[in-house]
Amino acid sequence: MKAIAVHPGKAHTMHLRDIEKPSVSDIPNGRGVLVKVLQVGVDATDMEINEALYGAAPAGDDYLVIGHEVFGIVEEVGSSVTHVQPGDYVACTVRRPGKSIYDRIGRSDITSEETYFERGINLLHGFMTEYFVDDAEFIVKYPGALKNLGVLAEPASVCAKAIEQAYAAQQRLQVWEPKKAWVMGAGQIGLLATMMLKLRRLDVCTIARSPAEGNLKAEIAESFGAQYVSTKDQSLHDVAREHGRPDLIIEATGNSMIAFQCMNVLNLNGALVLTSVTGGSRSTEIESDKINLEWVLGNKLLLGSVNGNFRHFQAGIADLALGASMYPGVIERILTHPVDGMDQHEKLLPLLSDSSVLKVFVNIAKG
Ligand code: BGC
Ligand code: ZN
Repeated sequence: MKAIAVHPGKAHTMHLRDIEKPSVSDIPNGRGVLVKVLQVGVDATDMEINEALYGAAPAGDDYLVIGHEVFGIVEEVGSSVTHVQPGDYVACTVRRPGKSIYDRIGRSDITSEETYFERGINLLHGFMTEYFVDDAEFIVKYPGALKNLGVLAEPASVCAKAIEQAYAAQQRLQVWEPKKAWVMGAGQIGLLATMMLKLRRLDVCTIARSPAEGNLKAEIAESFGAQYVSTKDQSLHDVAREHGRPDLIIEATGNSMIAFQCMNVLNLNGALVLTSVTGGSRSTEIESDKINLEWVLGNKLLLGSVNGNFRHFQAGIADLALGASMYPGVIERILTHPVDGMDQHEKLLPLLSDSSVLKVFVNIAKG
């Protein structure tokens, strides 16, 4: 069967290749789920992998099948599988457990091991292929009525985790009732985070580079009830002066400089959550004395968040469902650039590097 792969460590090597079709019996103890892949999304992580800035091939292979945002339909299940059956729509988690205590309690998303295993990213083949098989533990049932948004299940899990972690960590304050949130970046993560924070009744500013006029990202953010602000019009200090300092910032620009600039504007007792995976080697100067002083005196929290486990997928999917009924027709506007079939793989990365493009995904099969 067809798959799209790269040679990790060598830049620009994306290619189509033929790999063996997996079987439900590849997973022991009757726990296998064979999934027919319908759609696979691509994101900045795939771009970094193709730039050889990130990612690694599985041991013994010189290629990595890419794709970590999958939506599919169950084709066959092993004898011990009870929570999904053939014909069910499903998503699949990305990270697989190592051996740390966190991995053993179903929290591989916070593994304490340096080496982590992620399908389509690090040391494990991904989903950009016709079929995949995995342990039932990692297969997340997805509501068929929402199947047009299925490819957003993985990015939604990443947002759900970031927000959940902020609320969990802020328990340190005994009471935390955030009023204002800023979402930095208006890519898929920024927009889904915007929606999730609006569903939690926060006053949200979605802040990104591109001017608001004629900008789909601004329209989507505003349709969720957020304010869209372009950094071309206002500095972060201006936004803080006009709208007030945020109690929560979710940083999802992919630009580490912005992550540090955010440290200048966070409100007292606030939380800044960093989610951008920046594989490059850029550096920046910061006003370290000022920031250090303000953060100490203001009891502020800096939190990194990556990946999403089974529960975060379920939370993300629940928010997609609530968002779809609260803001009808809005979430699907994120799905801007379908590419039909894996044969057209050369189109993927040029589309990804165009900042006006919101979501690129491959339609692999109909279902
Ligand atoms: C994926 C996450 C993953 C992270 C780090 C992101 O693009 O969506 O699932 O944990 O990259 O590799
Ligand atoms: Zn991703």
